[in-house]
Amino acid sequence: MDSTANDIAAVVEADRAHVWHHLSPHKQYETVDPRVIVEGKGLRVWDATGRETLDAVSGGVWTVNVGYGRESIANAVRDQLLKMNFFAGSAGSIPGAMYAEKLTSKMPGLSRVYYANSGSEANEKAYKMVRQISHTVHGGKKWKILYRERDYHGTTIAALASGGQEERRAMYGPFPDGFVPVPHCLEYRSQWGDVADYGLRAANAIEEVILREGPDSVGAIILEPVTAGGGVITPPEGYWPRVQEICKKYGLLLIIDEVVCGVGRTGAWFGYQQYGIQPDIVTMAKGVASGYAAISCAVTTEAVFEMFKSNPDDPMNYFRDISTFGGCTAGPAAALENMRIIEDEGLLANTTAMGDRLVANLNALAERHAVIGQVRGKGLFVGAELVSDRGTKEALPEKTVAAVVGGVMKRGVQIGMTNRSVPGFNNTLCLSPALMVTADQIDQMTTAIDESLAEICG
Ligand SMILES: Cc1ncc(COP(=O)(O)O)c(C=O)c1O
Repeated sequence: MDSTANDIAAVVEADRAHVWHHLSPHKQYETVDPRVIVEGKGLRVWDATGRETLDAVSGGVWTVNVGYGRESIANAVRDQLLKMNFFAGSAGSIPGAMYAEKLTSKMPGLSRVYYANSGSEANEKAYKMVRQISHTVHGGKKWKILYRERDYHGTTIAALASGGQEERRAMYGPFPDGFVPVPHCLEYRSQWGDVADYGLRAANAIEEVILREGPDSVGAIILEPVTAGGGVITPPEGYWPRVQEICKKYGLLLIIDEVVCGVGRTGAWFGYQQYGIQPDIVTMAKGVASGYAAISCAVTTEAVFEMFKSNPDDPMNYFRDISTFGGCTAGPAAALENMRIIEDEGLLANTTAMGDRLVANLNALAERHAVIGQVRGKGLFVGAELVSDRGTKEALPEKTVAAVVGGVMKRGVQIGMTNRSVPGFNNTLCLSPALMVTADQIDQMTTAIDESLAEICG
């Protein structure tokens, strides 16, 4: 190894000179050092300056569900890599087969796992399935895919075409055809005034779009069970049963994007299971292996799978797709161990209990800080929307929200915020700690928020 690898100043310099960071305006690095994270244990991380932070966002983007420094996952990956690291996914692998069996045992009604690498990619697979079904089953009809305002499904061009966050899409068009938005379901920002059954109203808005577009043209809808980066939007009462009904009525495949909610985040294995939904395709990524390896999955019902082998005489009648690194065995090896940890350590129950504590703490803060407009969450997937005025619900400016996050960071806790997503509404603080978070750590997070709000917002 290069002797400079242990010289942290050289590392920071190499980073500044050569790394193009994700989602970062780079001009700042001409005057300040980039943050380099060098170590993690449990929920704590240390940066290149030796500073310790309590991570309340699981690696920044709701990913490290079982926390840092898990030796058993590292060992499982190491052992697997030495035995067999890769073979194209047209063949099987031991961890690939075992994880698919284990995963689908947690997903009644679903039975097939398609492996890929990222959340965006898993969603692309789902879209390609819908398009191929349109050709092979519907004679070219039912090719449109609905998506919801404020939802996010990834960064590739088709995933962005189905993204309901204008600030993420801006400047990356033109986009491919056939992706159509439906209204969001955030009752706090109701589009229809004070309606009695907001959940039903928001779901019925989907039907209106289907009727406008023509039911014959619409093949699927993709939805997050709880919207993540669009503002931690928990579904209103009555929403999901009606959505399911509408999908059945018009023959839409229901694609559930579990990239954030999946594998324990909400206190159930999957977010959709909190709402009694029966999806046709479920995509997942972040928490699948908690970031110990890159893995994503598109999981389908047997009925969807059957459509790709219904005509064995047709040489084109199979899913003609590959993801080279979907054949990496590190992903399913890590994912198997990740799932074992969640089961053996009772992390679903802890997620529910600690999530309730986090929401209760934040609601208690709302009594003292008028700037907290609404607290929303499911399990350890929690947001607090900040407003300048509770009466008018005017959103707190993004810069002020960022200052609050900075104030929390100054107190040794990293939280997140919705950012550069929904114009005018990047005003939600986000918390998604690792699933084994303790009560003391939850209290440390909310104390830091309390102090920061007092400092920044008065
Ligand atoms: C709900 C949702 N879907 C998809 C993605 C895309 O995942 P990836 O960044 O792994 O491509 C994200 C990423 O944040 C997400 O939040």
